[in-house]
Amino acid sequence: MTQPHVVVLDGPHAVAARAAEEFEIRARAAIAARNCFAVALSGGKTPTRSFEMLVSPRFIDTIDWPRVHFFWGDERCVPPDDPASNYAQARKSLLDPIHAQEKSIHRMRGELEPRDGARDYAAFLDRFFGGAAVFDLVFLGLGRDGHTASLFPNARALEETAAACVSTHVPGNLVPWRLTLTYPVFNAARAAFFLVTGADKADVLARVLEGPRQPATLPAQGVAPTDGSLTWLVDREAAARLKQHA
Ligand code: 6PG
Repeated sequence: MTQPHVVVLDGPHAVAARAAEEFEIRARAAIAARNCFAVALSGGKTPTRSFEMLVSPRFIDTIDWPRVHFFWGDERCVPPDDPASNYAQARKSLLDPIHAQEKSIHRMRGELEPRDGARDYAAFLDRFFGGAAVFDLVFLGLGRDGHTASLFPNARALEETAAACVSTHVPGNLVPWRLTLTYPVFNAARAAFFLVTGADKADVLARVLEGPRQPATLPAQGVAPTDGSLTWLVDREAAARLKQHA
């Protein structure tokens, strides 16, 4: 397991720009090596800024888009045109602007009954990767309660060791049913990047990175790629309580 690399950047714009650069670099390397780049996108506001960056003039023509395959780390169980859908969000800010081909867009089917949606995605990943999924790049966010993707504190999804995708119920959430990739998939990735911005994340970020190891209550701590890299791109506000990066 590699040690996490923490990069503190000026603000949300700098985090988005660095995430887009990493996307560009990793896409180029993966396409050169395997003729295909498999990326798992995340929901939340932080990645959306990186999507907008990727379609900006600085990046849009630097990436061989037809060879990029888009997947999701998690999804809300809503139809694909629902504003709460992670797919809908990415469609608007990234996939439509780059005219992504339908055959490269591999969304989770949030409109299905949750267990069927999870089984459907796990089976699809298996077919696509010809076995256990190995993503070239995974983007993740961090919730104030320590969740990442839809791996929430104390959920059974945290214990999954076999299925690549599971359904999970998040009580009290506006969209309580979710689909999420599991630790075995995140930890098989070639590179995982957390994108974290804002003062409201300072406390949880310090607990995740510098506090005692307790992934059951801080699920983001469970993401630790076995052979791949783990990088945290955080802005100054989010990093405010980190002792090692003060
Ligand atoms: C989702 C996400 C979730 C998100 C975090 C952080 O579907 O909501 O995948 O895990 O990344 O809640 O979200 P923000 O970046 O908006 O704070």
